[in-house]
Amino acid sequence: MSKNLSELSGRKGVKDSLFNRLGKLAERTGTPETEDLDRLAEEFLVGKANVYGTTTFYDFLKPENKGKKIYVCNGTACVCAGTQKEVISKLEEKFHPDEIGHMTCLGRCHENKAFFYDGKNYSGDAIEQLDDILSEKKEKKDRYHVQAIGKQILTAPFSSVEEYYQPFFKALKEEKTVVLEEIKKSNLRGRGGAGFPMGMKLDFCRKEENEIKFIICNADEGDPGAYSDRYLLEVQPHSVLFGMLISGYVTGAKYGVLYIRAEYPEAVETVQDAIEELRTRGWIGENILGSGFSFDFQIIQAQGSYICGEETALINSIEGQRPEVRVRPPYPAQQGLFNKPTVVNNVETLSALHFIIEKGGEAWKKIGTEKSSGTKLVSLDSFFNRPGIYEVEMGTPLEKVIEAAGGFKQEIKAMQIGGPLGGVVPVEKIKDLNLDFESFANNGFLLGHASIVSIPKDFPMMRFIEHLFDFAAYESCGKCFPCRLGTKRGHELTKGALEGKNKIDIELFNDLLETLEQGSLCAHGGGIPLPIKNILHYFKEEINSYFKK
Ligand SMILES: Cc1cc2nc3c(=O)[nH]c(=O)nc-3n(C[C@H](O)[C@H](O)[C@H](O)COP(=O)(O)O)c2cc1C
Ligand code: SF4
Repeated sequence: MSKNLSELSGRKGVKDSLFNRLGKLAERTGTPETEDLDRLAEEFLVGKANVYGTTTFYDFLKPENKGKKIYVCNGTACVCAGTQKEVISKLEEKFHPDEIGHMTCLGRCHENKAFFYDGKNYSGDAIEQLDDILSEKKEKKDRYHVQAIGKQILTAPFSSVEEYYQPFFKALKEEKTVVLEEIKKSNLRGRGGAGFPMGMKLDFCRKEENEIKFIICNADEGDPGAYSDRYLLEVQPHSVLFGMLISGYVTGAKYGVLYIRAEYPEAVETVQDAIEELRTRGWIGENILGSGFSFDFQIIQAQGSYICGEETALINSIEGQRPEVRVRPPYPAQQGLFNKPTVVNNVETLSALHFIIEKGGEAWKKIGTEKSSGTKLVSLDSFFNRPGIYEVEMGTPLEKVIEAAGGFKQEIKAMQIGGPLGGVVPVEKIKDLNLDFESFANNGFLLGHASIVSIPKDFPMMRFIEHLFDFAAYESCGKCFPCRLGTKRGHELTKGALEGKNKIDIELFNDLLETLEQGSLCAHGGGIPLPIKNILHYFKEEINSYFKK
């Protein structure tokens, strides 16, 4: 059935997608009207239940959120900083509590107090200027530190569009396989979490015989604590577009889709402007500069759902289907968007291609460690003296990054690194870690997207576990039982324990974690036990009283 839905959804292509149309319909009241949904179902030849099922999934489409006027960030960094109660109480002076919704996360982890109003994000002291924001729609750009420790590649100042795209023009004159070989040589591994070699993925897609193929940029950076993709999209948009053009060239894909999260409205604008700049210059479209290569971009604005960052849920989302994770195989490189061969890559992975194409794969491979090549962006939260985006050579000691950021503002006891599915690193382990995939994995953690959320000394670890389960249950796509039920049960158990209603049976709890880890279909349910196990291991004393033998 869903195979047919993919084909049906693909009839109109990405330019006029069911999903974008749903988003447009929700702009006025916060949710599409039922008659509009019926009309859309008819137009796209899909069942009404399918369109309804999609609409009720997303924060910005679901009927429950109708009438919400302002949203407060409840991501892990804002929760740990403890700033959001004050934000809510200030907002309640101007809005009815029913008009205030929640968003996770706005990527303002470097200054917290984050909220979203009328298509713009605000943070830091913006809440003090609420009157101006509401009356004048005053914009308030956030500021954060951007620094390279070692080689500066992804954060290097932008030269000019003319200069920047020279390596692309040069590549267009080369054989596709020659260009691909440089990417393979670089051993660039995906920055979205799994670390899969990019060159291999491009090659799988290249080998598929199909007139229609897609390159998708996964700009759904949903990990609370991470805002490095936001930085690239807002400040270095051409690096992302460049990477997609090269990926399109080597695979034979003609379409590039940027799936950008709704929580990053400014990113949508900057990327669209960059696309238009390329269009004006004639560097995208049909038969680019007479090379025979055609490529164009389409932005799809997401509608608020963490699981859409998982690549197959993301594909379902673009198709206007309920974004449930797909069973693999087939992999997206064989059957992805509209069942066509598709490469999905993270923003940062794509941004690395400029250096590789300009300087060669060997040059990238020489940076970092043998298995983790190149540089990596790290997002630091407001507990650092100089929070911001730090570009580090893979293999850089974690201690060095903390030092470069001026150390911590206040005492912390641990950090969650790599998003909600990343490990919880106690301060005493900092000295053992280097920023690369292997160092983290060998020490029982996960590099992930390398975002750092600090957990202050006085933040209860049991509360942190409860927050993780709450997040995982809310964001579960519901496709498989271990995650759909397990995250909910985990939340009930931990919430009850915090409220003094129950003690947790440790055997049952371990069994639950094991079931999640082993039985979940994707890394959402499969990954959430890692930080919890870290806490059980490193903070046993602190949380012991919540458990019974
Ligand atoms: C629950 C979940 C959320 C994810 N969220 C993101 C995300 O926000 N951005 C991202 O690039 N990858 C995310 N991923 C990883 C993607 O599924 C996929 O591996 C990635 O986009 C591939 O790109 P890469 O090879 O360049 O890393 C997520 C995976 C899971 C399981
Ligand atoms: S683990 Fe969770 S998010 Fe992943 S497929 Fe199962 S229900 Fe969906």
